[in-house]
This record gives sequence, C-alpha cells and structure tokens, in this order.
Amino acid sequence: MLLHIPQVLTATEVAHIRDTLDTQGWVDGLRTTGPQAAHVKRNLQLDTASPAFAPLSQRIAAALQRHPLFASAVLPAHLLPPMFNRYEGGGQYGNHIDNAIQTDRFTGQQVRTDVSVTVFLSGPDEYDGGELIVEDSFGTHEVKLDAGDAIIYPSTSLHRVEPVTSGARVASFLWAQSLVRDAWRRSMLFELDMTLLKLRHQLGDSAEVVALTGHYHKLLQQWVAL
Ligand code: NI
Repeated sequence: MLLHIPQVLTATEVAHIRDTLDTQGWVDGLRTTGPQAAHVKRNLQLDTASPAFAPLSQRIAAALQRHPLFASAVLPAHLLPPMFNRYEGGGQYGNHIDNAIQTDRFTGQQVRTDVSVTVFLSGPDEYDGGELIVEDSFGTHEVKLDAGDAIIYPSTSLHRVEPVTSGARVASFLWAQSLVRDAWRRSMLFELDMTLLKLRHQLGDSAEVVALTGHYHKLLQQWVAL
C-alpha cells in the first residue's frame, strides 16, 4: 500500500528545518549505502555527525508519530532516525530495494525495515524531475508531493528517484519496523480502521460500531508481534 500522508509538517516547521539544513555540511550519499544501490545512487546526505542532525531528526520522527494516519497505517514498533537527502544537478537514485535490516545509529538496535517513508521538504515548484517512482503489484506510481507531506510504501518495493534537472529536491527519509510485519495485514487493518472512523462519525458509538471496533482489536491482537 502506497499512502500519501498530508501535512506532517506545517509550512513554518518546513521553513525552520530548511533554514537549518542550509547551514549544515552535506556529504556523499554513498556513505550509507549497500553495494548494489551504490552503483545507482548519486545524491547528498546531511552529515549525521553534524550538530543539527539529532534535533532535526527527532523533530521529523515526532511529527510522524503524532499524525493519526501514519499511526494507523504503519503501526510503528520502531522508527529509525530520519535522515536528510538533497538531489541537484542531475542527482538521482536508480532502481533499488532498501536494505531489510538497518541499525539505529543512536541505540545500536537492529531494526527490520517494513515501511519506507519520504517526507518532502521542497515544494514541487522548486525543482524539475526528482519524482519518486515506486513499483508495486498494482503498477508504477509517480510521487511528487507538497513540502511537509509524506509518502509511505512497503520497504520491499522496487523504487527510484528520477534525475533532478533544475533546482534542488530536499527530503527526509526513514524506515519503520511495524508491529505487524505483513504488508497485506497492515493494509487490511488500516482500511478497517478508516471505515470504523467513518461509521463512528455517521452512527456514533452504536452497539455494532463498538462490536466492530472490538473485532479490529482482536485482529490486531492476533497479528502483532512483540
Ligand atoms: Ni530507497
């Protein structure tokens, strides 16, 4: 499931993050990449040793975690610290699949990557190209969102970032380990939760809505791995 999560960050938050990023050191994105992806990756990443990294990263993680759509769709068990990248001057990232296991740089914990997240920090009018292309069982999707919006997709999806031919595309990216490992189960729980939300709005807490909410939690109880 590919899901657009609108307004993870306000315009003011985006402006603050962008201003801070502009004063920081960027390094070659190849530093954090496995051997297959290294052949196709050409971008810059914020140096994770820079003093601004931890506070900015924590700010993005907190914004995602308080967003109800993100919470419902990802059911996060662990978020890896959000990182930051910058594509300009033809920068691109060819077809690849993200590593299945990543290490949390703050805690050393090994984390399984179930869901990949990109939070756009540049508006679509600030650069040409730079579309995120994600392939799933329903075909190929092209994603270019407003600054402050996020896209989430299963980490097993083949994806790429098209060359940025003018301007600069700045984004934050991260992975989440979900409480529910299977993408189909996560997607079903999400759809059920969204339907319940609408039913509750239409009918209030009727006995049937309460019973159906109970079914959601029984399914979650069966499928969560802790
Ligand atoms: Ni990737």
